[in-house]
Amino acid sequence: MLNVGVMKKGSLVIVGTGILTPAHLSQESINRIETADVVHVLVPDPLGLSTITKLNSNIKNLGELYFDPKSNKNGKNRLDGYKLMIESILSDVRLGLKVCAIFYGHPGIFVYPSHECISKAKKEGFDAQMLPAISAEDCLFADLGVDPGDLGCQAYEASQFLFYRHSINTSAMLILWQIGVVGDETLTKFKPSENGMAMLKEKLLEHYPANHLVTLYEASTLPTMEPRIAEINIDKITDIQINAITTLYIPPLANPALNTNFCKRWNVDISQLQ
Ligand SMILES: C[S@@+](CC[C@H](N)C(=O)[O-])C[C@H]1O[C@@H](n2cnc3c(N)ncnc32)[C@H](O)[C@@H]1O
Repeated sequence: MLNVGVMKKGSLVIVGTGILTPAHLSQESINRIETADVVHVLVPDPLGLSTITKLNSNIKNLGELYFDPKSNKNGKNRLDGYKLMIESILSDVRLGLKVCAIFYGHPGIFVYPSHECISKAKKEGFDAQMLPAISAEDCLFADLGVDPGDLGCQAYEASQFLFYRHSINTSAMLILWQIGVVGDETLTKFKPSENGMAMLKEKLLEHYPANHLVTLYEASTLPTMEPRIAEINIDKITDIQINAITTLYIPPLANPALNTNFCKRWNVDISQLQ
């Protein structure tokens, strides 16, 4: 029986590499990678993998468990592959090892297996922790020079944005992740579905004018590379190249209207509002 309050021997820490490896790796994450018994890694680029291997040579490459649509290896869709990764990480924790799992960007942003691992490990009585890291969105704010503090910020997974009735606030910025697989409800493709970009255009046009200028953004993933910042009118988004790492930024349409009744009722000095 689990003695409440006493942690089991194995432990899990989940860290992120940031978008540009090794520049974005935090000192705290480096320490945790170096001192782990075993390191499970899912990073998209060979530079990231070789950087981590230099910090700790006992590596398990989670990329080998990724769903492969050609051979149907590792299950029938991406979710099945993620479940295999979760089991691989947790099986080492259960062996009593000090496990570090690494995902690119921020390990808790659009990373299903990381949150699942932390929650399952904690439920099983292990010490489990996630460290923050630099995400694609952090790079977007820096490269596009936009501040979520100005008028607010909404962020959605692109397919979820299509298929659910989200209330969109056009007075705040909107960030759509994973447009590289937009419209693919099967989780089996590595590109937008046949109608994905057309559906996205239709959905955006419900809220914004056709000539609203949006930005396709790709943060630099190599020191020598410039970010991709491609501005385009909404009615042209079906005509432009979309890649696996593309994120869509939609700027606010107009400032929100002032709630004068509310301000008056609470004696807010509206001349002070910026
Ligand atoms: C599975 S999510 C991983 C996000 C990652 N954990 C992070 O913190 O940025 C993949 C999505 O992140 C965004 N993304 C990843 N790399 C990017 C890059 N270099 N530039 C812009 N967006 C990126 C894209 O929207 C992509 O579809």
